Amino acid sequence: MNRPPELLGHAPIGVFDSGVGGLTVVHALRERLPLESILYLGDTARVPYGPKSPDTVRRYAGEAADFLLARDVKLIVIACNTATARAADDVASRVPVPVVGVIEPGATEAVRRSRGGRIGVIGTQGTIESGIYERVIRELRPDATVLSVPCPLFVALAEEGWTRGDVARLTAERYLEPLLRREIDTLVLGCTHYPLLKPLLTEVAAGVELIDSAEATASVVASTLADLEIAAEPTGRPATARYFVTDDARQFGAVAKRFLGEPVDSLEWVSLGASA
Ligand code: DGL
Repeated sequence: MNRPPELLGHAPIGVFDSGVGGLTVVHALRERLPLESILYLGDTARVPYGPKSPDTVRRYAGEAADFLLARDVKLIVIACNTATARAADDVASRVPVPVVGVIEPGATEAVRRSRGGRIGVIGTQGTIESGIYERVIRELRPDATVLSVPCPLFVALAEEGWTRGDVARLTAERYLEPLLRREIDTLVLGCTHYPLLKPLLTEVAAGVELIDSAEATASVVASTLADLEIAAEPTGRPATARYFVTDDARQFGAVAKRFLGEPVDSLEWVSLGASA
């Protein structure tokens, strides 16, 4: 890292996702680490990342990380399962700050909470295709049965704010049916957009333990900051949260406010890379 270590505590945490999904992680970070300021980037012009090729997701993730680094963040949270699955190693190998993804914290939490080791995973095509959840879960619990299903329409429903009602319910019932039929006891919401549908998913998958990696990720961020001695100290001034998006900010602002439970005071449009 190029800056004097004493400055790092005051620097913000950088968080990025393809759209509104990463706000689930921001919400957990604000609760868990109220002294930390946050810069959030939602690449809304290029959402969804889920169906895109690994190379494209790596390029987008690299551009998002560069954007945050240029604003002097002290740590980067990849608040997107697809970008974590496709690009976390690549980003971590070339940036001078710690990088925290959402997959290991979520998988670890699933293994901790599953009673019978029958674990369902839902995510984007990219995340499910990468097989990363199966790998990490089996490393932690070799006898686990892991069943995975991609649920791409959930991303569009979350971006639209259609998280309740007939359309969302029918979609959820259709996607979850093969997992429920095979009696999973735990379901990993392996996409940061999906916790926005949590009240509905709790009803559709009644009796199944739902794992949202946001809180587990916030705990990993807290311990990383503590270990590196770069956590924010009290300054008497409130921590700030600034939001950046790569497409029309209005829809994002409405969903963000509803989800975060606080107004999004600082929301700016930015351009990333050549195709944004
Ligand atoms: N929120 C994202 C994830 O966790 C990606 C959704 C998408 O862009 O397809 O995978």
